Parts: sequence; C-alpha cells; structure tokens
Amino acid sequence: MKKLTILFIICMLSISSVGCSLAVSADKKGKTRPEVIAHRGADDRAPEETMPAFKLAVEDKVDYLEMDLRQTKDNKLVLMHDSTLNRTTNGKGDVSRYTLKQLKKLDAGSWFSKKYKNERIITLEELINRYGSKTKYFIETRLVDNKLKMEEPLIKLLYKKGLIKKKKVVIESFSAMSLQEIHKLNKSVPLVQLTLFKSKKDFTNKNIKEWKKYAVGIGLDSSLIDKQLIKKLHQNNLKVYVFFFNAKNEKSEQKRVINVGADGVFTNHINYTKSLMKSSK
Ligand code: G3P
Repeated sequence: MKKLTILFIICMLSISSVGCSLAVSADKKGKTRPEVIAHRGADDRAPEETMPAFKLAVEDKVDYLEMDLRQTKDNKLVLMHDSTLNRTTNGKGDVSRYTLKQLKKLDAGSWFSKKYKNERIITLEELINRYGSKTKYFIETRLVDNKLKMEEPLIKLLYKKGLIKKKKVVIESFSAMSLQEIHKLNKSVPLVQLTLFKSKKDFTNKNIKEWKKYAVGIGLDSSLIDKQLIKKLHQNNLKVYVFFFNAKNEKSEQKRVINVGADGVFTNHINYTKSLMKSSK
C-alpha cells in the first residue's frame, strides 16, 4: 500500500508543471476585475457549505466556490467550516469523531431556515461530481489533530477528477505546513496563504520572502487592506484575497478593498459584489 502511495506521488510530481499563477478574471470588454469567491457558497441565502448554497453560487456564475474541508473518522473529506457539529447541524461534538454514514443522518439545514430542513452535510467528491469543471474551487485545508492528513486524499481526488490539469482549483490554508505538503504532492496547484495578522507591520519582508516560495497569493482580513500593502504584495508577485471577519461592515469594506486593488473577495453577498463590478469604472 505504501509503495503504491509513493508511486502515485512520484507520478503526479513528474507530470506536474512548476510555477503557475491564477488567471485574473476579465469582463466582456476584456477589462480585469477582482475574482468573486463565494464564501462557503451563497451563505446569505442557504445553509453554508451545503449543496443548495453551492447551487445558488454556481447559478450566480461566481469565479470560485469557497469551501472548508474536515476529515471524518473514516477519513472522508466533508465540507464544513467548524470543527464541531454544534452550530450548523443538529449534532454535537467534533466532526472527526463521526463516520460519514453517521454524519449523513444529521440535519444541516434547519439551523438556517425551515426551508432547508434535513439538508445534508456533503463530501467534496459529491460537490465535484455535481459540478465538475463547470465551476472553480477555492478549497481550504487544515491540519487534523495537528497532523498532515487531508492533503494526500485531497490531491488524489482532484487529480482523479482532472481538476488540477484544467486549472479549476486553488488551495488555501492558514497552515503553511499543509500548503507546503500540497506542493510536495503536486507542484502545479496554486496556493494561497491565509493569515490572521492583526497589524500591517506583520507583513514583513521576511514573511513575504517565505510565502513567495510556495504561494501565489495571500488571504487577509479587510481591516488591514490599504493601497500601500496591496502595492507591496503585488510588487512581490503575490495576489491579494480579502475576507471579512466583521460581518457588519462587509459591504462597505468590499467596495473599499475593490477600489484599492484587491484581486479577489471572499464574499458573503454575491449579488452585491457583482453589482460593484458592474458599477466600477
Ligand atoms: O476562506 C477565507 C477566509 O474566509 C478564511 O476564514 O474562517 O472562513 O476559514 P474562514
């Protein structure tokens, strides 16, 4: 089994190309615009990370569906943000303590609205089987019990589905270790390093030099964004992807960060973001 795994990794390394970048989206006139990344699907209109949330986002023709991976007790990759079931299902406790079969019995929709009662937790594979290369995927990895566990099954799945070759995937993580492991398995997947910094001062030359070794972009909270920081990251060939920890001012912040040159937004309001693209000069 171990031999097979090593063979698989070598095979993927040998056919993957080194150094790639994300395509910048362009409108019909060829003008570049920031990428619209549906944070956990259309999470303002349907329960986050469920099939209906992704369906709405695909219908809205976003550039990317954004999603979080969690690994089940039987090593399946499911889409869920929190480590526990408590907030978004009628279950309790850590996702990793349950098998997929057990998780599939839970109601992952009622917490959001009665309309979505009995909506199920889904696997990444189910989402890919539904939409294939019709959309693009911005997938967040994380360590499991502080260990590298999900990277190999993830790359195997994306490879099997042909999504890496077709450039349909970006992998993002707060864990540099996880991202670096992804590149050991396949060098051609674009990586985005998510950061939790509270100050612009943390974007030091030392940090930037390190990120540039493997990442094509940086993810950061909108509160840190200004022209100067964007310029610094762009000068280092790092794209800037913005998330919004403060839900209350997300819309005004979206407008601001797009105006100062962000390359993509993890939006919780797809239609609003798209309206900004239309009205921008
Ligand atoms: O995925 C980008 C950003 O939203 C990261 O924050 O908490 O949604 O994983 P979180």
